[in-house]
Amino acid sequence: MKTKDLKELMDDMSLDEKIGQLVQLSGEFFQANDISYGPREKLGITKETVNLCGSILNVAGAEATRKVQDRQMAVQPHHIPVMFMSDVIYGYKTVFPIPLGLGATWNPNLVKKGFEIAADEASSAGTNVAYAPMLDTVHDARWGRVLESPGEDPTLNSKYAEVMVTGFQDGLKKGNGVVSCFKHFAGYGGVEAGREYNSVDMSMSNLFQNYLPAYKAAVESGAKMAMTSLTSLNGVPSTADKWLLEEILRKKWGFKGIIISDYASIYELIKHGFAADEVDAADKAIEASLDIDMKSPCYANGLKKLVTNGRLDEKKIDDAVWRVLSLKNELGLFEDPYFGSSVEREKKSILSDDKRKLARQLAEEAIVMLQNKNNVLPINKNEKVALIGPYATDHSLLGMWAVHGDKKESISIAEGIKKYIPNIPIEKGTDVSRNRKMLEEMGFFSEDQINEMISADQVETQNNKKAIELAKKSDVVILAMGENALEAGEAGAKTNLKLPANQLDLINKISKLNKKIVLLIISGRPLVLTNIVDKVDAILECWFPGTEGGNAIADLIFGKNNPSGRLTMTFPYAVGQEPIYYNHLSTGRPAHNSQHVGRFVSKYLDAPADPLYPFGFGLSYGETDYRDLKLDKKVISKDDKLHVSIKVENTSEWDRKETIQLYFNDQVASIVQPVKRLIDFKKVLVPQHSSKIVEFTVSPNQLQFFDNHGALILEPGKFTLFVGKNSSDCLSEEFSLK
Ligand code: NOJ
Repeated sequence: MKTKDLKELMDDMSLDEKIGQLVQLSGEFFQANDISYGPREKLGITKETVNLCGSILNVAGAEATRKVQDRQMAVQPHHIPVMFMSDVIYGYKTVFPIPLGLGATWNPNLVKKGFEIAADEASSAGTNVAYAPMLDTVHDARWGRVLESPGEDPTLNSKYAEVMVTGFQDGLKKGNGVVSCFKHFAGYGGVEAGREYNSVDMSMSNLFQNYLPAYKAAVESGAKMAMTSLTSLNGVPSTADKWLLEEILRKKWGFKGIIISDYASIYELIKHGFAADEVDAADKAIEASLDIDMKSPCYANGLKKLVTNGRLDEKKIDDAVWRVLSLKNELGLFEDPYFGSSVEREKKSILSDDKRKLARQLAEEAIVMLQNKNNVLPINKNEKVALIGPYATDHSLLGMWAVHGDKKESISIAEGIKKYIPNIPIEKGTDVSRNRKMLEEMGFFSEDQINEMISADQVETQNNKKAIELAKKSDVVILAMGENALEAGEAGAKTNLKLPANQLDLINKISKLNKKIVLLIISGRPLVLTNIVDKVDAILECWFPGTEGGNAIADLIFGKNNPSGRLTMTFPYAVGQEPIYYNHLSTGRPAHNSQHVGRFVSKYLDAPADPLYPFGFGLSYGETDYRDLKLDKKVISKDDKLHVSIKVENTSEWDRKETIQLYFNDQVASIVQPVKRLIDFKKVLVPQHSSKIVEFTVSPNQLQFFDNHGALILEPGKFTLFVGKNSSDCLSEEFSLK
């Protein structure tokens, strides 16, 4: 439709109709399946609101979206199509590893391809907008939503923001893209104590330096939508934070797109103690330039009152409606309300072989080998190998936020391994969780389901016994263990990050048998593995590896592929260290290299200050040496560039994918700086018995930092540059900026 016609259409709409465009409801109101996660009580929505509603959440599938679209267009006075928005976070039907695993690939190009195929599948099913990427910087593994983020580093997350947004949106012109709605603006990952929905309170320099860059990168990459956070930031709920939404997002960063609240977050302004009632909440949100109200009655029931009583200028509503109608128009929905979706296209697109292949490759690169004592991996399939553990045959490998994925389509670990050892003996050994209270707290399982998940005590004893008998007869035991899918994800905050007691107990028993043990961990977060490392030989962090998880795992443990994943989130030594992240600020009394010795340094009495596995860590088969770190200058000016090179030599008979990481430290600054900051990385293949010179170029603007007013500063002085395999294993050289 021409802009002029769209304008005319808007001018012809009643205030109620316009407000309807700013309301988003979920599928249950349209007799479609509702697969949204969130509080489920009805929020005082009238039939008229349902009829005028401009967008719908988490109704997917060509048949369902077409049906709902027909219905909505028929009842709307101007027959305006609705937009379908959905949580397509790490795949639609073909599910990839969770984003924390995608982060660990350090392979943005591959991740981009993943987002392209997710867009192809989702658009074939009628989805217009995907609520991703989630770009909250994560520092605290207690928070369940670390699963959805690429990790703890702002530079790396910004790179992923770019490829995820463009991966989704590049196809829009060809008819197989979706709009990217990045989230959760802003700073949700900083929730205090890792407790879900808790407040976020942080210095401005921290906010600008560590939390905002990835969202900004999403804006610069053209993301057309942004979702606010459910939380408050420095005392102001993000959903109604005029400074954040208008000053920073719209004015400073030039964001022209639509801002949507998170699920009921306008309504929740009341509970935050920030708004007196629904009308006040609507007022505060629209004044902050928030366009669409997701799943709350505030805009529907409040905006009109605000206009009639003169508190709100209708122009504010018009601006928001214009943004919504413009996006619908840009997507061509007025010409094709079905967005090119059809049952036939959907069938062809979903879970096609090429998509599965990519999911397998992503999983292979996401999995991180944390330990491999005595090179027990790769497994020699001619030995007596057994597979034991609650995840051996379980298909729950998709993780909580793969809401459209079908776990029946996923390849289990056993199925993957059977391609190498068709008759591998398998025992479950124990349940994933035997903690009834926690399973109840998850809020999704009925009592009957919980009873099914927790074996009767006698059965559990038998399962344990059978597992131990099998282990006794084997040379190598593969243990498939981990968290329940709903233990991580939204509202999955935890204070205990160890594997559950029943699984630890089985590990202890099997470790006494002196067998080679390979532990595969399925989890949505860094776990505390300190009590396990001495009991097993090899450990693979497999995350929730997605649809092709079982195949990818098998290819790695039997040596068809070489593990190459590197952590993007620190694995703590003890839960009490959380939040723990590599780019923490320097302290006056560091644990290492302090002027002081003994007690009075920044440490714990009962645990080391260092994590168990640092950011950037991961092992591969074979060995490489990093040497000859060279800087082409010792002093650079603000207009210079610094050229850095390092030799990476593969001394083994394995081809290795190396992730060479470049960090720096600003030795003296007017705001205390992180001990290290990642500025660049390269993932390169170094074939067996060969070496490569890997080069980087550093520009002074990469050395800037944010002050407490959000201004970028570049201060001359001395810097240390680090290049290495991970954030704590690096070579270093100094240089100065004049
Ligand atoms: C709540 C979550 O916080 C958000 O990430 C998600 O996109 C919405 N619900 C919609 O399901």
